[in-house]
Amino acid sequence: MNITIIGSGYVGLTAGVGFSHFGHSVTCTDIDAAKIEKLSQGVCPIYEIGLEDLLKENLQKGTITFTTNTIEAVKNAEAVFFAVNTPQGEYGKANLTYLLNAVRTVSPACKPGTLFINKSTAPVGTIEKIREVIREARGDDAFFVASNPEFLKEGTAVADFLKPDRIVVGVNHPNAEERLHALYRPLIEDGIPFIATNIPTAELIKYASNSMLALRISFINEIADFCELVGADVNEVAYAIGLDQRIGPHFLRAGIGYGGSCFGKDVKALALSGEEHGYEFRIIKALATVNDLRYRIVIQKLTTHLGQLKGKVIAVLGLAFKPMTDDVRDAPSLRIISELLDQGAVIRAYDPVAIESFKKLSSRAHEIVFTSTINEAFQKADALLLLTAWDEFKNMDLFEVKKTMGGTLIVDGMNILDPHAAKNAGFTYEGIGR
Ligand SMILES: NC(=O)c1ccc[n+]([C@@H]2O[C@H](COP(=O)([O-])OP(=O)(O)OC[C@H]3O[C@@H](n4cnc5c(N)ncnc54)[C@H](O)[C@@H]3O)[C@@H](O)[C@H]2O)c1
Repeated sequence: MNITIIGSGYVGLTAGVGFSHFGHSVTCTDIDAAKIEKLSQGVCPIYEIGLEDLLKENLQKGTITFTTNTIEAVKNAEAVFFAVNTPQGEYGKANLTYLLNAVRTVSPACKPGTLFINKSTAPVGTIEKIREVIREARGDDAFFVASNPEFLKEGTAVADFLKPDRIVVGVNHPNAEERLHALYRPLIEDGIPFIATNIPTAELIKYASNSMLALRISFINEIADFCELVGADVNEVAYAIGLDQRIGPHFLRAGIGYGGSCFGKDVKALALSGEEHGYEFRIIKALATVNDLRYRIVIQKLTTHLGQLKGKVIAVLGLAFKPMTDDVRDAPSLRIISELLDQGAVIRAYDPVAIESFKKLSSRAHEIVFTSTINEAFQKADALLLLTAWDEFKNMDLFEVKKTMGGTLIVDGMNILDPHAAKNAGFTYEGIGR
C-alpha cells in the first residue's frame, strides 16, 4: 500500500521503516530539513538499536523515501499517518496544535477516499477534531479516519514495532478497518492480536495503558519510601509481589520516578481530559503528584551525608530517562542536576549516548563538566549519583572507582548496584527503599 507518514521522530520513523519492511511503499515527511537530509542518506538521527540498519536496508530496496514536501508526499497516498509531537500544553492539557496544523496542511492535497490515521497520542475526541479539520479544509466528506495508537518503547522501538503485544485500531467504517488490517497483515498472520474497536475506545486504551504503567512506578516508589522507615528491602518486595501472576514483574523498579516524553504528559492529559468531561481521576492525579516529588529523594540522601552541597563534586552517571536511548525529554536527570547546581554542587556527568541530547535540551549544560569516559566522571568526586540503569554502570569495578574518587558515598537512584559489594569496596551505599 502507498502510505505517507507525517512526522519522522521516534514513532513516525520507526513506523515508516517498519511498514516499508512489511513491503509497503512509504514516504516519511518532516518539517525538520536537517533530519530529512540525514535520513535520506541512511543516517538515523536518534539512538535506537537496529533502526539505522533497517533504514539503510529499505532505502536500498527503494521502499522508503524522505521529504520535507508534505503536500507532494500525500498526493498518491492511500493512507496518511500522523506521528507528530503532542506535547504538554497549558495546565497539562495535550497540545494538539502540531497535530491539527499538520492535518489542516496536508488533507486538501489528498485524493478522495484517503484514510487519515492518527498515531500521535491524543485525548479521546481528537479523531472527531481531526475529522472536522479535514472536512473544513477539503470541503467534502470523501475520506476516512482512524485512530491507531502506538505502544513502542524507546530503546526497543524496532523490536516493539515488529513484534508488538497487540495492534489497536479505532474505526467507524469497514473500509478503514480493512485497510489497517492490510497494513499490519504480516503481524496479524504471525498471531499478533489485532483489536479493532470504536474510536473513543482506541484513543482511551493508549492513555489507560501509559497511566497504568506510571501508576505501578509511583506505587512501588511509595512502598520504597515506607521500606526505608521500617527496614524492609523494596527490591525483594517487588520481586516477591511480581511473582504473583495477577501482578507480574514489570514496572516495579523503585527509583527516582518516571521520565521520558510520554508518561508525564499523558498522565496529566488524562486527568485534564477527565475534568473536561466532568470526571475526577483521583488515582491518576495522585500518581502524578507522587512522581513530581520524586526528584527530591536523591538530593536529600546527598545532603544527609555531605551536608551543604556547595563546592561538593557529584559524579552523575546517566542522563537519559532510561537505558538504551539518548532521549532526555522530561528525564529526572534534568531536574535533579538543576537542583544540585542551585545548591552549588559541581557536576561531572557521564552517559554512554545521551550527552549531546542533554546539551541541546538543558539550559544549564554550560555549568556541567561532561566526561567522555565513565572513569573521568569519578575524578575527585565526593559522591557518585546513579540516575540511569545502564548495564555499563551495573558492572563497574567499585574498588577501582573508590581509588579515583575523593569521597565514599554512592547514591544509587536506580537500585542497580549490590549494596554489600559497595560496602565491601568501602562505600557508604544509599539505594532507594533498601
Ligand atoms: N516516543 C515514544 O516512545 C512514543 C511512544 C508512543 C507514542 N508516542 C507519541 O507519538 C507522538 C510522536 O512522538 P515522538 O516521540 O515520535 O515525537 P518526536 O518529537 O520524536 O517526533 C515528532 C516529529 O514530528 C515532526 N513534525 C511536527 N509537525 C510536523 C508537521 N506539520 N509536518 C511534518 N512533521 C512534523 C517534528 O519535527 C518531529 O520530528 C506523540 O504524540 C507521542 O506522545 C511516543
